[in-house]
Amino acid sequence: MKLWGGRFEKATDAAVDDFHSSIHFDWKLYEEDIHGSMAHARMLAKQGIITDAEGEAIVKGLEGILQDIAAGKVEFSLAAEDIHMNVETLLIGRIGEAGKKLHTGRSRNDQVALDVRLYTKSAIDEITGDLVTLENLLLKLAEEHLDTMMPGYTHLQKAQPITLAHHLMAYFQMFRRDLGRLSDCKVRTDEMPLGAGALAGTTYDLDREYVARQLGFARVTENSLDSVSDRDFVIEFLSAASLIMMHLSRFCEELVLWSTQEFSFVTMDDGYATGSSIMPQKKNPDVAELIRGKSGRVFGHLMGLLTTMKGLPLAYNKDMQEDKEPLFDAHSNLHKCLTTFTGMLATITFRKDVMHRGALGGFANATDFADYLVRKGIPFRDAHEITGKAVLYCIKHEKSLLDLSAEELKDFSPLIGEDLYGAISLETCVNERKVYGGPAKVQVEQAIVNGRAFMAKL
Ligand code: ARG
Repeated sequence: MKLWGGRFEKATDAAVDDFHSSIHFDWKLYEEDIHGSMAHARMLAKQGIITDAEGEAIVKGLEGILQDIAAGKVEFSLAAEDIHMNVETLLIGRIGEAGKKLHTGRSRNDQVALDVRLYTKSAIDEITGDLVTLENLLLKLAEEHLDTMMPGYTHLQKAQPITLAHHLMAYFQMFRRDLGRLSDCKVRTDEMPLGAGALAGTTYDLDREYVARQLGFARVTENSLDSVSDRDFVIEFLSAASLIMMHLSRFCEELVLWSTQEFSFVTMDDGYATGSSIMPQKKNPDVAELIRGKSGRVFGHLMGLLTTMKGLPLAYNKDMQEDKEPLFDAHSNLHKCLTTFTGMLATITFRKDVMHRGALGGFANATDFADYLVRKGIPFRDAHEITGKAVLYCIKHEKSLLDLSAEELKDFSPLIGEDLYGAISLETCVNERKVYGGPAKVQVEQAIVNGRAFMAKL
């Protein structure tokens, strides 16, 4: 028996039941659905639309159903299509006549909009918590590595030396923006749509504000048509999720690279690496690779839902049932990626000696050599040319700039004195870059202070 069976003379085709039913994935919304129904029933009773006794019976019945589902005692029915009609059918079976009054002044269209908003709000809260844990770890690691020198890169070629702390704080900034996007998205998700009905509201005297307050929403939605056809908040969440995955993916790519024998900047903890079924020597950074790989499916969900929504006339259309799987999948994968990534980063070993050596090589101090010449009065463009010649000489003689003798240096410019060595030392290259936002220790310490202040205000 379908809850909407009245105008039908024939049963739904079995293949159609299977095709259009969403219970195999939307059962996940059972808590949201039941809490929403409880709030709706209390409001109906308060407004005198149903009696207090009916309201109480409904709430009590729903409480029992909630417990039964949580205990795994409920078998959902495909014929009841979705979580909304499954719960309603269970309720009628459980409490009889009063159960048939729950859906007064409500449609599945505003009901599903409510459930998805409640789900998205808690997903945002969970991911925010994951990001906070990761940010705090980054701050702690940055504090530990204020003096850990490493090469900075452009084009993956050694460019200028930096510290590991500065590098880690770059990721801190990315995730900080992600936190901002999530909280921004939450503002727009935090609107209560019940009362919109199927599309055109309702003739019953509903108290929408009362329902919103019970469910912890900041406000009610403004337009009944928009209330049932808006999934912007899901797309915004998927968009924020995509950016987080993009940031994680870049970080993972660096860790994969850094754990190669060629780089050897890091050693993954054994708990976060895997072996090969054939090559006994292998220790593979699978966790980092899988996180990098999972960015693809989250981006796909964003594009998928945008495409699902783009041609829909107002108001509700069944196409919108396709919002849930991307949302659930993106959320659960993002949560797993963030928590696993944080565990991996917390246990990784940074090989300071190798990083330090890396920072000394590759002429990462060439800019400072040129800047030294500028301070001696040579125009920067000429200083660049002279330094380039010195680098070429060093490449040919397998030396670093610091290896050049005072005599060799004089050939490049008579203005070069003994003070050059100090001017292009690793220490100087990093710690003289004192511009705000730069890698000098004083600035990175400031960045950490700012970061901590940001976290304290969350
Ligand atoms: N399962 C549906 C969904 O997720 C619920 C809303 C159904 N509404 C309707 N008019 N068929 O979108």
